[in-house]
Amino acid sequence: MVKTIREIQSDLNGADTSYLSHSMHPYPAKFPPQLPKLILQNYAIKGQSVLDPFCGSGTTLVEARLFGANAIGVDVNGLSVLLSQVKATQLYPEQFDQIERFISKIDGEIIHWKLSGRPAIIVKEIEGQSHWFQQNVSEEITFLLNSIELLNDCNVKNYLKIVLSSIIVRVSNQDSDTRFAAIKKNISDCYTLEIYCKKAKEYNSRMSAYSKLVDDKTELKLFNADSRNLDFIDGNSIDLIITSPPYANTYDYYLYHKFRKRWLDLDVKFAQYNEIGSRREYSSLKENKEKWNVDLIKCFKEMHRVLKMNHLAFVIIGDSVIKKELVKIEKEISIFAPIIGFRVNDILTSDLAGHSKIFNPTYAQKGKKEHIIIMEKIK
Ligand SMILES: C[S@@+](CC[C@H](N)C(=O)[O-])C[C@H]1O[C@@H](n2cnc3c(N)ncnc32)[C@H](O)[C@@H]1O
Repeated sequence: MVKTIREIQSDLNGADTSYLSHSMHPYPAKFPPQLPKLILQNYAIKGQSVLDPFCGSGTTLVEARLFGANAIGVDVNGLSVLLSQVKATQLYPEQFDQIERFISKIDGEIIHWKLSGRPAIIVKEIEGQSHWFQQNVSEEITFLLNSIELLNDCNVKNYLKIVLSSIIVRVSNQDSDTRFAAIKKNISDCYTLEIYCKKAKEYNSRMSAYSKLVDDKTELKLFNADSRNLDFIDGNSIDLIITSPPYANTYDYYLYHKFRKRWLDLDVKFAQYNEIGSRREYSSLKENKEKWNVDLIKCFKEMHRVLKMNHLAFVIIGDSVIKKELVKIEKEISIFAPIIGFRVNDILTSDLAGHSKIFNPTYAQKGKKEHIIIMEKIK
């Protein structure tokens, strides 16, 4: 079995990671869907419950439902929970009809606005608006949000919000998803509406393919919560955990989606103060390595509590540099996991220089490695 996991690592180079709903919406440090897929195929049984306590963009949850398992996801970031919900929830033909009518309506507005001029729109106010968004862009985002609010079906509304969220950085003055500098983009009138419709059409075909394949007997549950405390999940109720916690001092996930969350009225502060391993904690607040261990131990204790006896947790995690010291995370986990009641069955390590789920190339240069840690609850 373990050999299969090793094979996954080498198979990942060049693999298409964008199939079905996986490529909807940018999200940093996603793991390749082939990884949870192969773990599920080798270690899960249809009808079981699979948990990802750091579900991010929902990769594990999408694969779990495609496999035929119930999917439970937790993330501290509200945008992540909304995105996972949308990507892992199948839509039915009448919902696709509603979405298509919505896109046609926006397409019609574009023609009308170009011929007869823009209507007056009272722009929704968000913090930092005038610095980060042109006036015409803010008007068009507000128009889309108001139009979405007129719909009734919650899943359709969430889907249309995620389409909007996916284009926010592109139509903002922010240089790119990974660069926070404001630049002049001279975005023309109706561009926001046009790329919104284009994205919605692209995502429709992805969602439609996913919806046909998903096992609709399976359940999806999502929680916007801090995984250091999973008291909303019963003890001994989970069959398999597949997850990737943050790689300490590498990202600020809450920052990455800040403007998206402001437009969608999602909370920024909860993620900011409860995200573990953030750059804010280890680079700005200068926390030490012990804090990282304390937070991980809390999460591992909770994963251990909810997992059934003799069942497995697959944790994909990377080393980090904290206060100039290289933290070899597999060594730390090998020490604390047995005390919690896990046996570490295997650790597969790969050099981040070859392939990485991180797109910061400097990551690998510091000698950091990425690990798949396979643990079994034994007491
Ligand atoms: C490496 S990403 C997971 C990516 C995911 N595997 C995917 O494919 O999209 C780590 C996630 O942990 C989340 N996170 C950080 N601190 C958390 C906490 N205390 N509780 C729950 N989630 C947290 C972040 O918001 C981020 O989405």
